[in-house]
This record gives sequence, C-alpha cells and structure tokens, in this order.
Amino acid sequence: MKILLTGGLGYIGSHTCICLKEAGHDTVVIDNLCNSKISVKDNIEKITGSEIAFYEGDIRDRGFLRDVFQREQRKQKIDAVIHFAGHKAVADSVEEPIDYFENNIAGTIDLLAVMEEENIRNLIFSSSATVYDPKSPVPYKENDPKSPVNPYGETKYIIERMLCSLAASKPSWNIVILRYFNPAGAHKSGLIGEDPGGIPNNLFPYILKAAKGELPALSVFGNDYPTPDGTGVRDYIHVSDLAEGHMAALKTMLTGRGEENPTVYNLGTGRGYSVLEIIEAFEKTNNVKVPYMIAARRAGDIAWSFASTEKAKKELHWETTRGIYDMCRDIWRFGQEDLV
Ligand code: NAD
Ligand code: WQD
Repeated sequence: MKILLTGGLGYIGSHTCICLKEAGHDTVVIDNLCNSKISVKDNIEKITGSEIAFYEGDIRDRGFLRDVFQREQRKQKIDAVIHFAGHKAVADSVEEPIDYFENNIAGTIDLLAVMEEENIRNLIFSSSATVYDPKSPVPYKENDPKSPVNPYGETKYIIERMLCSLAASKPSWNIVILRYFNPAGAHKSGLIGEDPGGIPNNLFPYILKAAKGELPALSVFGNDYPTPDGTGVRDYIHVSDLAEGHMAALKTMLTGRGEENPTVYNLGTGRGYSVLEIIEAFEKTNNVKVPYMIAARRAGDIAWSFASTEKAKKELHWETTRGIYDMCRDIWRFGQEDLV
C-alpha cells in the first residue's frame, strides 16, 4: 500500500513511518518541520534502509497539498492518509488558543477538502485521551462522555465531531479515530525519539533531562491524589506499540471494518503507573538517579487516566507487547545518542 502521513517526521509519525516501511509499504511524508527536524528523515532512512518521499510544507496550504497528492497519485494511488500533523502542547494551547484552532482545526479542514477533491477517502486521525470527561471513572471506554478541559483537547474533540458528520453525510469516507493515551519511549535503535527542546511539559522527557543533569530536579506535581502513593496515574504506551496500533487500524479499516464510521479506538495498555513508580522504574532500568521533589498539583491534572483496551483487542487484534522498562530503557538510549 501507499500511505501518506501528515506530520510524519514528528514523534509518533516517524515511528509509524518506520513500521509501514518495514512492512513493505510505500510512504509519503508531509511536514512543515514546526516541531521536528529534517534529520529525522535521514534516521528513518538509516533504520529502514530505504528512501521516503518527503515534502516540506504546511497542511493549511491547499495548493501545496493538491500538488503533493497529484504528483504522488500519478505514480501510484494513495490508499490512505494518517493525519498526525498538529500542535499538541496543552499549556501552549491555553496561552495561544487561536494558534491551536488554526493549525489543528483549520489544518484538518484543508486536508479533508483536498482529500475529497482527489478522491482519497480513507483516513486515520490522531486523537487523544484528553477528550474524555475527567469525571468519568477509569478505565475510559470509547463511548464514555467527552468533555475536554483545555483548547488543545477541544480541537481534538471538534475534529472528531467533524469527522462524524462527514462520514454520516458521505459514507464513501472510511474513517478511524485513534485516541492515544500517554506515548513514551523511543525507537530501539536510539536514533528516533521525542525531542521537545527547552523545558519539557511531559513526564518522560523531563525525567530524561533531569537524570542527565541537564535540568534541575523533577517537580512531582502533587502527592495527595486519591491514588495508592498519592501521585498521578497514567497509561504510558511505548511509541513503537502505538505505531503498530496504526498498522492494525489500517488493516482493519481497509479490509474488514464493521458498521461504525468513524470507528474509534483507544490505544493504551490498560494499566496505569504513578509518577513515583515511573521514577523508580527509570532509576532501576538505567542505573541512574532521577532527582525529584514533591511540588504543588499542576492546574488541570487529574488523578487517574487509563484505557479500556477491549475494543482494540477484539477488533484490531492488537495489544501492546512492551512494558514500562522498555520505555525507560529506550528513552535513555535515545538520550545518550545525541544524534538528532
Ligand atoms: P509531534 O509534534 O512530534 O508531531 C507532529 C508533527 O506535525 C511535527 O513534525 C510538526 O512539525 C508537524 N506539523 C504540525 N503542524 C503542521 C502543519 N500545519 N503542516 C505540516 N506539518 C505540521 O507530535 P506527536 O507526539 O508525534 O503527535 C502526533 C499527533 O498525535 C498530534 O496530532 C497529537 O495531537 C496527537 N497526540 C499526541 C500525543 C502525545 O502525547 N504525543 C497524545 C495524544 C495525541
Ligand atoms: C503525566 C503525569 C503529571 C511532568 C498530556 C496531555 C495529553 C496527552 C499526553 C496529547 C501527570 C506528572 C508531569 C512533570 C509531573 N498529549 N508530571 N512532573 O498530563 O497525562 O497528558 O500528554 O494529546 O493530552 O495532557 O502527561 O506527561 O504531562 O504527565 O509530576 O514535570 O506526570 O502530573 O500525573 P498528561 P504528562
């Protein structure tokens, strides 16, 4: 198959691109490099031993999109699009909501419009566990109530609603929505991983920098939550498991889907780890110290989040195979490489 990935040089897109190439598919990558580096392309090619078709540009530029689709379709039909491109930092979205509405929502509208023009109607969309109502009990099931609490989450939910309306009006569209939980880890080669730059907001990238001595002690945001050790519990999923989840979703979407359209799947492990458990696992796996201190709760955080994985297991025949130690080991290896 030939698959086009928007945001394909980003953290999750690059790992998915590797999986697709390793399974023998053709890939076309679009990225404007606003949150990734061109060296990721070289590293994907190094890992897979084959070239990827890469177009630098913005999904909000319809002329650019049309040109890429037409040029690539002349060679071979594009079977599906996986849409990763977007902004994803919750705190930034609170500061600059218009940027988030513009890039995530307007960008998706531009992509959908050009896909419709070019008769490509198979789409996988990157959504997030952040769309769920934090008041719902865990594990979150796909049909649980949604109530995003920040502009980033709102963009994901609005796009989900748009995709529902699109599929209802035009059943020739074939859409899968994947709600990721907390992606972590890196490619086992150490060449590809998450490189947020500056001071990371997310737990794993911060732990990596604190353990390397590049940042001061990790602030553990609250130890008075109603969890076993008082710190927040999340469903961390290895980014390579997540990438394989896309392969499974693609297969089900293109070969044997049911009536539901869009079909929504949680991609998570189904179990949670607390912040202190992650620190301990990181220290043990890598034989390093993670300096930390207990700090106040972070605004907007919740005590628990983890996925119900039943639907993905049953319909995608997919489940995670890597654990928390793999995530700790692989992110540490990536952190040592300094090749990106
Ligand atoms: P990322 O920032 O690493 O990757 C996104 C890529 O899209 C980047 O390479 C960026 O340069 C590109 N991009 C952004 N806007 C673009 C535009 N207008 N045109 C072209 N390229 C553009 O993020 P990621 O972690 O790989 O996330 C991928 C998707 O998954 C995002 O939509 C994100 O919201 C979603 N998601 C991520 C997480 C997470 O914790 N990483 C969790 C849930 C959902
Ligand atoms: C995990 C746990 C923190 C940093 C976010 C987005 C979500 C999704 C994934 C995109 C929490 C604690 C963290 C630190 C800490 N992204 N923590 N000190 O908040 O679950 O989810 O990323 O879709 O939408 O909201 O992930 O990694 O920020 O936090 O104690 O310096 O680690 O309180 O319990 P989160 P996270």
